[in-house]
Amino acid sequence: MVQTSPDGGIDEFDVVGVGFGPSNLALAVAMTEGGDAPSAVFLERQNDFGWHRGMLLDDATMQVSFLKDLVTLRNPTSRFSFLSYLHEQDRLVDFINHKTLFPLRIEFHDYLEWAAAQMGDRVRYGHEVIGVRQVTGGDRIDRVEVLADTGSGTTTLRAKNLILATGLQPLLPAGVVADDRIWHSRDLLHRVSTLGTARPRRFVVVGAGQSAAEATAFLHERYADAEVWAVYSRFGYSPADDSSFANRIFDPSAVDDFYDAPDRVKDQLLNYHANTNYSVVDSDLIAELYRRTYRESVLGRPRLKMMNVTRLVNAVSQADGVRITVETLTTGEQAVLDADVLVCATGYDPVEPATLLGDLNGYCHRDANGRLEVGRDYRVSTDDTLGVGIYLQGGTEHSHGISSSLLSNGAIRAAEILSSVRDRSAARAQPVSSAAAS
Ligand code: FDA
Repeated sequence: MVQTSPDGGIDEFDVVGVGFGPSNLALAVAMTEGGDAPSAVFLERQNDFGWHRGMLLDDATMQVSFLKDLVTLRNPTSRFSFLSYLHEQDRLVDFINHKTLFPLRIEFHDYLEWAAAQMGDRVRYGHEVIGVRQVTGGDRIDRVEVLADTGSGTTTLRAKNLILATGLQPLLPAGVVADDRIWHSRDLLHRVSTLGTARPRRFVVVGAGQSAAEATAFLHERYADAEVWAVYSRFGYSPADDSSFANRIFDPSAVDDFYDAPDRVKDQLLNYHANTNYSVVDSDLIAELYRRTYRESVLGRPRLKMMNVTRLVNAVSQADGVRITVETLTTGEQAVLDADVLVCATGYDPVEPATLLGDLNGYCHRDANGRLEVGRDYRVSTDDTLGVGIYLQGGTEHSHGISSSLLSNGAIRAAEILSSVRDRSAARAQPVSSAAAS
């Protein structure tokens, strides 16, 4: 139940979630399904639900089985499953005949949106959390204030637990700044829509991961007169390892194995299995891009060009395009490419929680590498004086493994966090005498 603080009418919740992407959506759904849910509100800076909208390319498919949706691993009978969504759309039979585990990204987005729409009363869109501050008074800090920018002012809420699921932030090559001509792949569709009826002559796409390959294929198909130059330092695109044994690294039980392993083994595992997720491309897409380059070489009209073993040196926007300097790594030779647009598909970094936590940072424990220490229940380890639970969804690859920023484990992680919040709240509510007797 939402309570109002005695001093000043600020709404108070057991849980305030920051961000409402798939991670906190899975948590909201878990709260809806379990009885005895804590009071909760989720603050999302976008004005509507949206999951990587700039990369909702028509052909792009999911990199994870639809069975790893918001709920199924936690509750296979949930009415919020992808199958339930398909049933409601009257597409279940057609999907079965499609014989795939990997729906279109656009379809999965529609599923997420469908689930989010049913969480309406728990979410406040258009609320960007800009800071958190402790509520003083007493020896222990049991509540914090969460400040959110609503566009027309600042709202303040109180929370007994914070669940940060703020996702990823785009990474650009050193010295490169995004503008109308230099885009991060995150914004691809939004930026393309601003080109209108213009007929660009040349695109350059930097990067060798899934987003780079998707952007290259998309631009090549969409702009039938334009050259598309793919620039990457690898020799060739590398396929994503989605084989069955390697895929077990995303299992819920792999989180236990990883969490308990010594740091040296954690690093080893991340290295061994980075190619399940990082800088890799679906094999089908690699084959498709190769098919296109080969066809064009046969036809004598090469438009899709691979600049492998090459790095971007710099990019400077000009009035009518962008001037890009690249360097061939084998010879050190530099060349200049003039293009209409540069797309940097150069990845993401998790958002660092410290930027939001303000003076709470002083209570949070960090390891020798400066990374937050996080319990198995995803709660940041803090001084005892901080009674407020700070939980992380994402940004825990160093402690919980490679699935931390992915969808694979979202349903189970939501259940684990919820159960930790409930247990801690029950422990607090227990009278001191009975706690001592037990
Ligand atoms: P996500 O980034 O989705 O959501 C975070 C939310 O927090 C956003 O809505 C953001 O607006 C909001 N937010 C941030 N700061 C805020 C603030 N201060 N105040 C309020 N709101 C704030 N993984 C996978 O397992 N399978 C896949 O197929 C894919 N596919 C895929 C495609 C593309 C193009 C990308 C870029 C990534 C993927 N991923 C993926 C990985 C992806 O990170 C993952 O699927 C989820 O987005 C993780 O969900 P989260 O909710 O944790 O973050």
